[in-house]
Amino acid sequence: MEMLIKHFSFALLIVFVFVLVSRAQVVPNDQSGFISIDCGLPESAGSYSEASTGINYVSDEPFTNTGVSKTLLPEYQAGYQKQLAHLRAFPEGIRNCYTVNITRGTSYLIRATFYYGNYDNKSYPPGFDIHLGANFWDTIIFYFDLPLQKQIIHVPLDDYVRVCLVNNGTGTPFISALELRPLVNKTYVTPSGSLALDTRVDLGSITNLSYRYPYDAFDRGWSYFDINNYKPNWTTISTPLTVNPGKYYKPPSEIMSTAITPTNASEPLVYTWFTYQNKAYYVYLHFSEIQKLKANQSRSFDIFLNGELFYGPLVLDYLNVTTIYSPSPLPSTVNFFGFGNYTFSLIKRKNSTLPPILNAIEIYTSVDFSQSETSRKDVEAITMIKSTYGELMKRNWDGDPCAPIKYLWEGLNCSYDGSNPPRITSLNLSSNGLTGEITSYISKLAMLQSFIDTPSEVENTNKCNSAPCETKKKSNILVPIVSSVGGLALLLLAAAGILIAMKRKEKQVPTGGVTKGTGGSEIQNDFFEEKKRQFTYSEVSNITENFVRVLGRGGFGTVYHGCIGDMQVAVKKLSPSSVKLLMTVHHRNLTSLIGYCIEGNNMALIYEYMTNGDLDSHLLDEGNANVLSWERRLQIAMDAAQGLEYLHNGCKPPIVHRDVKTSNILLNENFQAKLADFGLSRTFPTDGGSHVSTVVAGTPGYLDPEYSTTNRLTEKSDVYSFGVVLLQIITCRTAILSRGHERTHISQWVRFMLDNGDIVSIVDKRLRGDFETNSVWKAVEIAMACISQNPSKRPDMNQVVTELKHCLVMELARRNHSRATNSTNSNEVLSTLMTSEFSPLAR
Ligand SMILES: *[C@@H]1O[C@H](CO)[C@@H](O)[C@H](O)[C@H]1NC(C)=O
Ligand SMILES: *[C@@H]1O[C@H](CO)[C@@H](O)[C@H](O)[C@H]1NC(C)=O
Ligand SMILES: *[C@@H]1O[C@H](CO)[C@@H](O)[C@H](O)[C@H]1NC(C)=O
Ligand SMILES: *[C@@H]1O[C@H](CO)[C@@H](O)[C@H](O)[C@H]1NC(C)=O
Ligand SMILES: *[C@@H]1O[C@H](CO)[C@@H](O)[C@H](O)[C@H]1NC(C)=O
Ligand SMILES: *[C@@H]1O[C@H](CO)[C@@H](O)[C@H](O)[C@H]1NC(C)=O
Ligand SMILES: *[C@@H]1O[C@H](CO)[C@@H](O)[C@H](O)[C@H]1NC(C)=O
Ligand SMILES: *[C@@H]1O[C@H](CO)[C@@H](O)[C@H](O)[C@H]1NC(C)=O
Ligand SMILES: *[C@@H]1O[C@H](CO)[C@@H](O)[C@H](O)[C@H]1NC(C)=O
Ligand SMILES: *[C@@H]1O[C@H](CO)[C@@H](O)[C@H](O)[C@H]1NC(C)=O
Ligand SMILES: *[C@@H]1O[C@H](CO)[C@@H](O)[C@H](O)[C@H]1NC(C)=O
Ligand SMILES: *[C@@H]1O[C@H](CO)[C@@H](O)[C@H](O)[C@H]1NC(C)=O
Repeated sequence: MEMLIKHFSFALLIVFVFVLVSRAQVVPNDQSGFISIDCGLPESAGSYSEASTGINYVSDEPFTNTGVSKTLLPEYQAGYQKQLAHLRAFPEGIRNCYTVNITRGTSYLIRATFYYGNYDNKSYPPGFDIHLGANFWDTIIFYFDLPLQKQIIHVPLDDYVRVCLVNNGTGTPFISALELRPLVNKTYVTPSGSLALDTRVDLGSITNLSYRYPYDAFDRGWSYFDINNYKPNWTTISTPLTVNPGKYYKPPSEIMSTAITPTNASEPLVYTWFTYQNKAYYVYLHFSEIQKLKANQSRSFDIFLNGELFYGPLVLDYLNVTTIYSPSPLPSTVNFFGFGNYTFSLIKRKNSTLPPILNAIEIYTSVDFSQSETSRKDVEAITMIKSTYGELMKRNWDGDPCAPIKYLWEGLNCSYDGSNPPRITSLNLSSNGLTGEITSYISKLAMLQSFIDTPSEVENTNKCNSAPCETKKKSNILVPIVSSVGGLALLLLAAAGILIAMKRKEKQVPTGGVTKGTGGSEIQNDFFEEKKRQFTYSEVSNITENFVRVLGRGGFGTVYHGCIGDMQVAVKKLSPSSVKLLMTVHHRNLTSLIGYCIEGNNMALIYEYMTNGDLDSHLLDEGNANVLSWERRLQIAMDAAQGLEYLHNGCKPPIVHRDVKTSNILLNENFQAKLADFGLSRTFPTDGGSHVSTVVAGTPGYLDPEYSTTNRLTEKSDVYSFGVVLLQIITCRTAILSRGHERTHISQWVRFMLDNGDIVSIVDKRLRGDFETNSVWKAVEIAMACISQNPSKRPDMNQVVTELKHCLVMELARRNHSRATNSTNSNEVLSTLMTSEFSPLAR
């Protein structure tokens, strides 16, 4: 029995730090060096001491020149600490900054807090970026209207720090609070940059409260870890005595006086976390002995990381803190799919009588803040120029003048020379509509090579004055909207083909005569060995009663209703060249061709009818009471992947489907999935030509973003589309999520959730947790690999099939395990799947 602590949704736990907690009788620590800014608090309101923490907050007006102050409605303020009641929003300008004076060279904990609280009554929180000086810090996206915070440990090289909010075109940036706390020098030092907080938890909490100042001298927020899910494997121990926090990391006594330990003293204590994308992780493990050991008792253990000794042996001090940390980044564990996991195993030594304990843990990722800011002298000079010209410059001139280059101040040009700070090389003040004298500060810009100040422009200031052009970036949806009309029209001109899908009634063999040999209750692969029924065009016209009843419009033709005897059929138009190719393609996971008609330019294809419709309706139809189980979903994904794999690797030349999507995955009465519409969307290679075609195809949301740059759809484009389908299978969401006016691609949403370690919320709630977690995790991995921006990083369908197979095996093993007591044949099911289903398919 092993204790596995997986952390998933700490991003949500963090918010509890702002919930009111009545302050214990702790003598408030010294707040010296604290900078506590309540953004949006009017300066006229004065400063105040927050009741639950005793922290003194001041107005943000001295720290920023722009933005507007907003106050949340009382119902949104309720229950939260007071600094969240106001916020400052920045409706104007691309980049707006706070400049805060600090002590150069000191290590600071910088915390920015954002609580939307529906301040604009739009019921839709914005998305924007936050920068520290010239460097990108993080992206702020809300999925819940709860406080969100970003924390970083950073040693500023200047005597000020700039925190900037950057408008990406996805809403008005805002901020609720900005807090800076000096730390003990030489703590949290890393070789690879500043540290962004990932997780900071109090393990073994008995109060289930989150703590910050005054409990924590540095005002770090400690979230509690809900142990209930990990009982009975592990248990908590605690002491009413005070733990001495020590001189360096100083985790507070409230955090250190509780710990977790294995319930079974012989078992190791295992803490695992999952990672996504290659980040450099740093970890701080805080320990304190909180049991008074008897003479015949001892506690010593080794700490292993992913099976390698990390530290040991460790013997703890009674009521004193020991912090074990990684001076260099933890070794990367990411796999082919960009996923990894870190497992710390605390293992009791042989001579120890007591099991290992762990009191608290902090996990950080290093952030690259290497973009130099503009040369100090130039910044000073340009800042003076800015203040001389006052108001007019406010909108565009905020943050670092030259860096990042994307937010270069309007009217400036800079030189960028590798690691040296950028210099200002030219200045064109006319674009800012300035008036008045050219100040002497301009002469201080040493590198200035050109300076433009057209007098006529200065005279015309009124014109320039009005509305500077704001060029806001469009919302960053991954999906290029393809103007497919041209290509489509072309295809249909040449096409008068017809596709027919058959509906078998009950299990009876059709008697209509026209479908001889084709209508059995099971349509087998060997069906294709039979001669296909050929229809004349007039027969098809009769079947469809002259194409009167339109069933729908597929990507490449209109689908009509028809009847052959007592069978219902569907008829679809397509191109003659498609037909030829389709006749040669057959696989159990491709919709089966039953017959065809070729008469001049008129074509008809007759397909088996797929009783259970398309996958799309099963996933997205709210009214559909039959929720597909995880096993069934995996089986469907496997089926579709195998069909696609056959098109790519089993056909010569390979066929690029070009329109893989949930509505093109059809399900038969046994929920076996088959791909439809394959090959319909491509033109065919001229002899010896590449199998890549340039006919526009695809469906927004599924279309390879690479397509917009290369104009080519390849097998890897199908892999991308398949990745989107797989995400939909996991999440039961549409490819493009829309909320209000905002549209987000499913991959962006999943990435956001993964970045926050929140895999649980990705998975379709209707599954009610009834799945093997590792199986789902692996499926997410596969999907994320499939939708890599860079096609060469995407797996091929062969790899996808192999990996999905593993997912299915994991899920079956779980089901097998849980049913072992009441079913005797589940082993059989599993082994059948492993031998027959997974063996190479006949082609
Ligand atoms: C407890 O241990 C058992 C046996 O190793 C394991 O199956 C179970 O998942 C564990 N429970 C938790 C909550 O980790
Ligand atoms: C920061 O320091 C500069 C001078 O070093 C001073 O002009 C400015 O007023 C200070 N800002 C604040 C908010 O105290
Ligand atoms: C940290 O180091 C800097 C520069 O060495 C110094 O100015 C500052 O006072 C130190 N801070 C503390 C809290 O010791
Ligand atoms: C907010 O919007 C709702 C409608 O969406 C409206 O009924 C309400 O009065 C608005 N509240 C404020 C304070 O403007
Ligand atoms: C803004 O754009 C940057 C890259 O241009 C991106 O990394 C970031 O996620 C975007 N932020 C939002 C909120 O969309
Ligand atoms: C917090 O602890 C109390 C008892 O101390 C318990 O009743 C409550 O359920 C706990 N809340 C959570 C969220 O664990
Ligand atoms: C505790 O763990 C050991 C080693 O895994 C095992 O042999 C023993 O049966 C376990 N004890 C209990 C009570 O589960
Ligand atoms: C340690 O000593 C106590 C008595 O002081 C005894 O009850 C206990 O069994 C001993 N434990 C071990 C592991 O020897
Ligand atoms: C157990 O062994 C470790 C290292 O081998 C040693 O440091 C520790 O003092 C030992 N503890 C006892 C109680 O002998
Ligand atoms: C705990 O640390 C203090 C110094 O901070 C030291 O005097 C004391 O001996 C330590 N206690 C133990 C049990 O090691
Ligand atoms: C954790 O990573 C190891 C390789 O480092 C891998 O073998 C294992 O499957 C991963 N575990 C999970 C649950 O992803
Ligand atoms: C900056 O450089 C660009 C292109 O090199 C040029 O068009 C522009 O006029 C320059 N701006 C200034 C202010 O010199």
